[in-house]
Amino acid sequence: MFPTIRLRRTRMTEPLRRLVRETELNAGDLVLPLFVTPGKKLRRPVPSMPGVCNLSADEAAREAEQAQALGLAGVILFGVLPESAKDARGSGAEDARGPVAEALGAIAKAAPELVRMADVCLCEYTDHGHCGIVKGGEILNDETLPRLAAMAVAMAKAGAQVIAPSDMMDGRVAAIRGALDAAGFAPLPILSYAAKFASGFYGPFREAAASAPAFGDRRGYQMDPANAREALREIEADLEEGADLVMVKPAGPCLDILARARARFRVPLGAYQVSGEYAMLKAAAMKGWLDEKRCALESLLAIKRAGAEFILTYHALDAARWLGAE
Ligand code: PBG
Repeated sequence: MFPTIRLRRTRMTEPLRRLVRETELNAGDLVLPLFVTPGKKLRRPVPSMPGVCNLSADEAAREAEQAQALGLAGVILFGVLPESAKDARGSGAEDARGPVAEALGAIAKAAPELVRMADVCLCEYTDHGHCGIVKGGEILNDETLPRLAAMAVAMAKAGAQVIAPSDMMDGRVAAIRGALDAAGFAPLPILSYAAKFASGFYGPFREAAASAPAFGDRRGYQMDPANAREALREIEADLEEGADLVMVKPAGPCLDILARARARFRVPLGAYQVSGEYAMLKAAAMKGWLDEKRCALESLLAIKRAGAEFILTYHALDAARWLGAE
């Protein structure tokens, strides 16, 4: 062994390091989440996510223009409604004049090269903040499926190019696939949040989207963070139901799940670096405790190295700028 094997030899200069580099992070791997709200010329900062705003559709289109100029893969849209516009069924989810529908149209014009993804879930539209229909304190599974299917069709009609269900009801992919096909959207792919864990790291998102559950929590439908084999079953089930792409969420705390999923399934695999992961990096950077650029790029690279082909991240614009300047 030593001194024959000296692994430092290929680390000695940047050209050598480049030659042996196994993983490369590109702007084209990244998808930017946008929170869209009714109104015009509106940019309302989200306190727990510095740099992230609730945007009106026109402002979302401006953000998308930048995303396109920086070479990002796409955007994923979430709706943010005032409390007065929410109800028990989440009717706003299928509103053809809602903020997400409006933003899809505006982004199609402003940034046609981006992939436009629509998150499909009821929690941003229900007055109780749960991802499904509620009865007697229970989140009903089968009764929620037609609501999700209706939302998916509404998003498709508004110009979404990928439908991304994040609710974690059983059977939602099949229900959405059936509804899309029946409405003439057979070519539209489904990106399933297949392995989505009940994570504390979604905290800042719920502030951004005003979607915290009014009672209880989401452990009755999102996955127990203790379970890895079950995550693979979730992915398998969604693929059998017709998912075209799958996602693991959160990303950083689930690198093992990503690696196992990558080894096991031959489908496009994504990861969502969620709001809490972003907030942690931002907070430490603002205190001067971490180098934001270095740590954000390292986290994203690690997610890619673990097996993700694309990453949803609030750092997408900055990361693309940093990668371009390197
Ligand atoms: C909606 C949804 C959530 C996230 C994405 N879609 C919140 C949740 O499940 O509570 C979280 C994203 C993030 O934290 O950045 N169901």
